[in-house]
Amino acid sequence: MTMSLIEQTEQAGVVTLTLNRPEALNALNTDLIAELGSVLAALEAHAGLRGVVLTGAGEKAFVAGADIAEMRDKTPEQARYFASQALTVLKRLETLPVPTVALVNGYALGGGCELALACDWAIATDNAFFAQPEVGLGIIPGFGGTQRLPRRVGPAMALDLITTGRRIDANEALRIGLVNRVIALDERDATIAELTKQFSRNGPNAMRAAKQAVHDGQDQDLDSALALETSLFALGFAGEEQREGMSAFLEKRKAAF
Ligand code: COA
Repeated sequence: MTMSLIEQTEQAGVVTLTLNRPEALNALNTDLIAELGSVLAALEAHAGLRGVVLTGAGEKAFVAGADIAEMRDKTPEQARYFASQALTVLKRLETLPVPTVALVNGYALGGGCELALACDWAIATDNAFFAQPEVGLGIIPGFGGTQRLPRRVGPAMALDLITTGRRIDANEALRIGLVNRVIALDERDATIAELTKQFSRNGPNAMRAAKQAVHDGQDQDLDSALALETSLFALGFAGEEQREGMSAFLEKRKAAF
């Protein structure tokens, strides 16, 4: 495996990962999935990490899906293995301890939409298109789409998209809550710079705790989830970060996190 399908840059603890397999519009094949897994494993061990932005190289595609050429001749056992490898990597992305943002620049089809869904939230450039077109290929989504899409946009809208396979543009994605914002394509770098500024001025432990509270609380009943919030809120008072953040406010200066 060559470590060359993903470009990685870092600014103030915010890492931008750029998927770069242009000959197949960044389609997810075994090599790209494996490389993403290795990159994420290294980021898990990065103590100074404050955020991750995931995007696609170029102006045409975020990810045009799982690699259809690679999938065509798979047996059911091979298909199960392929999907389970991808699911493990997407789970790794979802459970990174820092905020993760998909910056969707163009096509996010099938596995591309599923990859965006494994990030905490998403921004679309105005040329983006989303779809779960798998039924048109005679299969169903296999990288989490039947589960994460309904959790993001509701089961009725998810089944609309999954059973029609229709493409939606950035504005419809915004309207249904699949993405949080739409930006112009040429605002990509400025958007990453702005996110970097925001993530780097916040308490890093606080951002991690906030993500943990939201994620872990989703699968619990409200009372248990609120108790989790209280525990994490209280834990925030155990370290230096809270004292520095509050002292900085009271002393009218910037916090040094
Ligand atoms: N898997 C494998 N290769 C893919 C791919 C995928 N999911 N998506 C695109 N490619 C390849 C094309 O085969 C083509 O390769 P070639 O130059 O060797 O012929 C190259 O990427 C460029 O794609 P092309 O179709 O020529 O570009 P386009 O601008 O005409 O269309 C799309 C772009 C994204 C609309 C079209 O490529 C497409 O529909 N892709 C498949 C989307 C899909 O069904 N994804 C879900 C998979 S589960």
